[in-house]
Amino acid sequence: MRIYKAKDYKDMSRKAANIISAQVTMKPDCTLGLATGSTPIGTYDQLVEWYEKGDIDFSEVTTVNLDEYKGLPRENDQSYYYFMHEHFFDRVNIDVSHTNLPDGTNPDEDAECARYEELIHSLGGVDLQLLGLGHNGHIGFNEPGEFFEKETHCVQLQESTIEANKRFFASADEVPKKAYTMGIKTIMQAKKILLLVSGADKAEIVKTAFFGPVTPAVPASILQMHSDVTLVVDEAAYSKI
Ligand code: GLP
Repeated sequence: MRIYKAKDYKDMSRKAANIISAQVTMKPDCTLGLATGSTPIGTYDQLVEWYEKGDIDFSEVTTVNLDEYKGLPRENDQSYYYFMHEHFFDRVNIDVSHTNLPDGTNPDEDAECARYEELIHSLGGVDLQLLGLGHNGHIGFNEPGEFFEKETHCVQLQESTIEANKRFFASADEVPKKAYTMGIKTIMQAKKILLLVSGADKAEIVKTAFFGPVTPAVPASILQMHSDVTLVVDEAAYSKI
């Protein structure tokens, strides 16, 4: 695991955008695995800025997102579909028909998971997967458990995740209780992984996940076993190492 220490959130975002930009420059028709949450917003902003200056071209890029809430329509401003359009897709020259997320409105869990997993394989896999980190060590929506869930699946969100995400909803009751997410195997099959962590509130989980044992109780710990992971972490999140 390569670890790049960044001064702060802005520096982390610039470093991450540089890595994504290098990927897109080297392979213009690459498949990017994308993430939501507050952590990658600055990275998307930086990429948009470089796109506006003519320094990066997304016209041939395909994207697959990690996860999506089950039951939220696309037009709900908390859906990850809405998030990706607002923060990235609608601001660059990406071909929207080449952007993919799990369909949170599909009530048939088995069918949706099989469709999404198959789609990722049909694209030839993910060249670079962007990841954030949950406070309990989750990646995508792979919550702590007794074993690593392998492929795209539907999860019951943990109370702590609902609690952490309720700030975006009118109340905790409105946070969806389930989500579709790529599985650990799906994520581990990405050729390269770029993991971003920012803030003092993540310092403890950074230590546990990347300097502790590999265990499904801390899903992100499996990334220690991937051969090409870059962790970009700001000083606050690295303060317990
Ligand atoms: C959500 C997302 C994850 C994300 C995590 C951390 O649960 N499903 O993909 O990494 O939150 O979010 P944040 O970056 O806001 O801390």
